[in-house]
Amino acid sequence: MTIACCACEKARTVHLYNFARVIDLRQLPKAELHVHVEGTFEPELIFTIAERNGIDPGYASVDALRAAYNFTDLQSFLNVYYAGMRVLRTERDYYDLATAYLERAAAQGVRHAEIFFDPQAHTDRGVPFATVVAGLTGALEAARERLRISAHLILCFLRDLSAESAMATLEVAIPYRNRIIAIGLDSAEVGNPPSKFATVFDRARAEGFLTVAHAGEEGPPEYVWEALDLLHAARIDHGVRSLEDPQLVERLRRQRIPLTVCPFSNVKLHVVADLAHHPLKRMLDAGLLATVNSDDPAYFGGYVADNFAGVVAALGLSDSDVIALAKNSFEASFVDDAKKRVHINEIDHFTAATSS
Ligand code: HPA
Ligand code: ZN
Repeated sequence: MTIACCACEKARTVHLYNFARVIDLRQLPKAELHVHVEGTFEPELIFTIAERNGIDPGYASVDALRAAYNFTDLQSFLNVYYAGMRVLRTERDYYDLATAYLERAAAQGVRHAEIFFDPQAHTDRGVPFATVVAGLTGALEAARERLRISAHLILCFLRDLSAESAMATLEVAIPYRNRIIAIGLDSAEVGNPPSKFATVFDRARAEGFLTVAHAGEEGPPEYVWEALDLLHAARIDHGVRSLEDPQLVERLRRQRIPLTVCPFSNVKLHVVADLAHHPLKRMLDAGLLATVNSDDPAYFGGYVADNFAGVVAALGLSDSDVIALAKNSFEASFVDDAKKRVHINEIDHFTAATSS
């Protein structure tokens, strides 16, 4: 078996990935629908931007920072994640952050990305909303031509903050409606159910935003029901705990509600014991519209093609599983139907060329 390390070169976890399979997982066209831009903040870039802004990064070296990436659950990760993004201050910082992600994503076969950002984690530190959005959208626009990757932004509310804070953030975001395709919900899940944000999401939909929500990561299947019924989420982010509820699985299957699954994240945050026990294959076999994503790749050991390679190796996914996952990623995206067809045709051409 070919041994190749994932995007996390150097001294991080070494994954045994076979990128020499018939389907080259890095070349396979795909969409990424669950990635937090702040979770793509690599330690080297944290140090570069900290120095540029005259801010103490809090660790003596890049290696010392990376050594702190040992998580026991979602909250233990969030503590490190929010600490890392403290050094972001200027439009250029946000531009550099998103550009670094888009370059890595393009190198992993991503043709389209729908990227979360957490404005409250920036505005609460005094960074204007306009600065964050200008930096991120500038990077997305530049990548469209240079990297041939399209992208949308999804604004996430921090669910451990109040519904009032979310509503105030929505008010600020409304003038940027043409730059933000959807509203999402992330951060500490347990104890912060979707119902807490029903009124804010009603308002967001009335203003023309699509909606998605993290649910069923650490929280119970009831939170997935609430995300669907109260927030009218068009996709469920994570949703792995849905499998505990057969009626919920049946609804997700029947309504073809996409689940943006993040295998490395689930292992690193102890949602599942290891990749070999990841429910992705069971989700596919149950007829669910599951997709593979990286979530917070700078923290969890790999970008999206690395996640594909990890589950292929650990779960023995077939080529048809892999192709279904890639097609699902476009079907589940917010691009229009004509673009979906173009991307799915590209997968068919790619697989035909690979197998001939
Ligand atoms: N779950 C919830 N909130 C998050 C995550 C996650 O995996 N990553 C960044 N914010
Ligand atoms: Zn997430």
